[in-house]
Amino acid sequence: MSTVVYVSNDAAALSLGAEEVARAIAAQARAQGVEVVIKRNGSRGMFWLEPLVEVVTEGGRHAYGPVTVGNLPGLFAADFLHAGAHDLHLGPTEEIPYLKHQQRLTFARVGVIEPASLDDYLAHDGYRGLRRALTMSPAEIVRVVTESGLRGRGGAAFPTGIKWQTVLDASASEKYVTCNADEGDSGTFSDRMLMEGDPFVLIEGMTIAALAVGATQGYIYLRVEYPHAHRALNAAIALAYAAGYLGADVLGSGKRFDLEVRLGAGAYICGEETSMLESLEGRRGEVRVRPPLPAVKGLFGKPTIVNNVISLASVPIILDKGAIYYRDFGTGKSRGTLPVQLAGNLKRAGLVECAFGVSLRELLYDYAGGSASGRPLRTVQIGGPLGAYVPESQFDTALDYEALSNIGALLGHGGIVAFDDTVDMARMARYAMEFCANESCGKCTPCRIGSTRGVEVIDRIMHGMDRDQNLALLEDLCETMVQGSLCGLGGMAPFPVRSALKYFRDDFLKVRRP
Ligand SMILES: Cc1cc2nc3c(=O)[nH]c(=O)nc-3n(C[C@H](O)[C@H](O)[C@H](O)COP(=O)(O)O)c2cc1C
Ligand code: SF4
Repeated sequence: MSTVVYVSNDAAALSLGAEEVARAIAAQARAQGVEVVIKRNGSRGMFWLEPLVEVVTEGGRHAYGPVTVGNLPGLFAADFLHAGAHDLHLGPTEEIPYLKHQQRLTFARVGVIEPASLDDYLAHDGYRGLRRALTMSPAEIVRVVTESGLRGRGGAAFPTGIKWQTVLDASASEKYVTCNADEGDSGTFSDRMLMEGDPFVLIEGMTIAALAVGATQGYIYLRVEYPHAHRALNAAIALAYAAGYLGADVLGSGKRFDLEVRLGAGAYICGEETSMLESLEGRRGEVRVRPPLPAVKGLFGKPTIVNNVISLASVPIILDKGAIYYRDFGTGKSRGTLPVQLAGNLKRAGLVECAFGVSLRELLYDYAGGSASGRPLRTVQIGGPLGAYVPESQFDTALDYEALSNIGALLGHGGIVAFDDTVDMARMARYAMEFCANESCGKCTPCRIGSTRGVEVIDRIMHGMDRDQNLALLEDLCETMVQGSLCGLGGMAPFPVRSALKYFRDDFLKVRRP
């Protein structure tokens, strides 16, 4: 009898040698006359254990990791194909504490199924949400999404149901569903992991969105730096068309929904929704003045849903299990779960999906195990390059949109980047302004000019030139950018700068060599 072995096909696992490991397992099994079937799954999100190898035994899946080609003779000798004892043996996969304590709703199938198999998707509750949606009116679908409390996971945390209601209420000859898969924030990778590990759930979510608002065409705007996700999505879209889940007559309902992937050319501002629409229309990614909102006048001037990958991928389970099931996870106005991405100076970086309400401290120490360097953690930046720095004294804050906003931070797309006590926060503040200067679309003055002046002012402070005057000037500049910028790039770049000044002012006052 053959043994099934899973080796991840996720880009992070591949970069750590998963392809070589998969090939070497097949070759050694052949040489030893042992039958193995190698299946390629997404990643479980425990990057320090990649390449993770899972063997299917009668007692479930057992994990070994991180596995190198050099480990394989020893693993075969230890009979790992039957969960034999070995230094790299981690026990039953689902019992690994990092995984066991998560609440995986959106990522339930990621790392479990073969992303390229529609049958595997169906066998793991796939397309149940769409089938349910097909029995409902558009208004009912929107109501369920609204009642679930789902808020956009792309950054702004706007209630998804309310956005959909606006598109539903607009009357137009054509409406669109667009998925924002630009994922530009530093330290974020949940969109990528999901598209590579469970592409059908995104396709299903977009199809439900289309039914909800009466759209017939969808686009996934994918950053060009994600070639593995591109391949996974295109393969899944082709299978969905062939099986009648996409196309002129979705599951015999008489409803049409066509879906394509469009590649962005790689600019941070193209993740801002109106720039994304400009780019999708074939123009340079530049922010549009609002109103009108994209929900009223979006792609090609038509009512358009713009939602993040994770927002759309959360919809199938909401339709399948109901609004209350989803809403029962979470706290306050932050309902459901969030796939948190733990990155930076951490021992166990990776993806943790859990209900809102978990504290930063639990994530950083219980899950991530503290810093990789072994030094004390000093701060984390949450929500990408425009997110505030949160000092260690506030690590007990709950992961909750309102709780973070109360301490001047924002959750954004759920990326957390950790720094130990060697970080120079004046340099980090300078980097925020430099990033804004590099990525500015140039449409408005506070951002285009302000960010460049911001770098110069911070340089002067760092080098001890007229410090008091320049600190006052920096504060004034930040206020002008917040108040006067057309979009969140210029409007939020001051957040990391101000938080660094507030909590780590001494770093700006250090004596430095020129
Ligand atoms: C500068 C900037 C960059 C952004 N980048 C992204 C991005 O990469 N992905 C994303 O989903 N949203 C991004 N957003 C947020 C989008 O404008 C928009 O709010 C989001 O796609 C809406 O989807 P949601 O409601 O599902 O979150 C960005 C916003 C700004 C201001
Ligand atoms: S804030 Fe910056 S990125 Fe946004 S519109 Fe103005 S110039 Fe463009």
